[in-house]
Amino acid sequence: MIQEFESGPEPEATRRDSGVTESSRASRGWWDRNADEYQQEHGGFLGDDRFVWGPEGLDEAEAGLLGPAAGLAGLRVLEIGAGAAQCSRWLAAQGAHPVALDLSHRQLQHALRIGADFPLVEADAGALPFADGSFDLACSAYGAIPFVADPVLVMREVHRVLRPGGRWVFSVTHPVRWAFPDEPGPEGLSVAASYFDRTPYVEQDETGRAVYVEHHRTIGDRVRDVVAGGFRLLDLVEPEWPDWNRQEWGGWSPLRGHLIPGTAVFVCERD
Ligand SMILES: C[S@@+](CC[C@H](N)C(=O)[O-])C[C@H]1O[C@@H](n2cnc3c(N)ncnc32)[C@H](O)[C@@H]1O
Repeated sequence: MIQEFESGPEPEATRRDSGVTESSRASRGWWDRNADEYQQEHGGFLGDDRFVWGPEGLDEAEAGLLGPAAGLAGLRVLEIGAGAAQCSRWLAAQGAHPVALDLSHRQLQHALRIGADFPLVEADAGALPFADGSFDLACSAYGAIPFVADPVLVMREVHRVLRPGGRWVFSVTHPVRWAFPDEPGPEGLSVAASYFDRTPYVEQDETGRAVYVEHHRTIGDRVRDVVAGGFRLLDLVEPEWPDWNRQEWGGWSPLRGHLIPGTAVFVCERD
């Protein structure tokens, strides 16, 4: 639902099924084509070396969802759906050893542009190219999870590459938002669809080929995905919209943010 950058012929927005392969291909293409505009529009808010969990501006430096910042030094951290790897840059500044993974080549080029000096890996979150137990921590700020057709596959992969007891923290669009139009103004405050309708949001070209896909899961689905992946859920954080934040980001706005949650952050621990 953050498809405002695409230029050229207007894709058709619909709700229909979209499997693992089609969703992944659509994401790679969309993020490669739109990375420049995304970084131009949101790079300033994200900051080149901050760790922001979502449009509310919840900052890991204050939130400590990965654990106390002072304890991050020396830890091996995998960031999934890293984009330009701003979060990994913050982690590196704390003394951690991040690896930033993304499906989009163009997003990772932006990581190089802003000065990432740690490994950047172009790969799909559903097939992590790392050995078992390679990482102490894994994190994702709106990366991959909202876009994949099979989130349990990703959970299992994260479980595999984490050491026992490792933490996995990820943020997604708050599931309740799917019941409302993706509009920042008052029109985005009236329920327009069933919260229980899991049919993916798909934008497709004139041949019916998906060019952008987002997958909806309810809160209960997300909890079950985490558990099915072999994790314990330690916390579910719903960041409140702070008064200092006056920016709109697609359908996220101060108006809606003060009334309904926009982001859900799942704090999990590997069994
Ligand atoms: C909304 S951006 C978030 C990027 C960054 N965390 C941020 O906050 O700006 C989503 C990112 O997830 C990546 N992504 C989408 N599907 C993915 C997948 N299956 N595997 C890996 N990365 C994926 C996209 O390429 C994109 O860079």
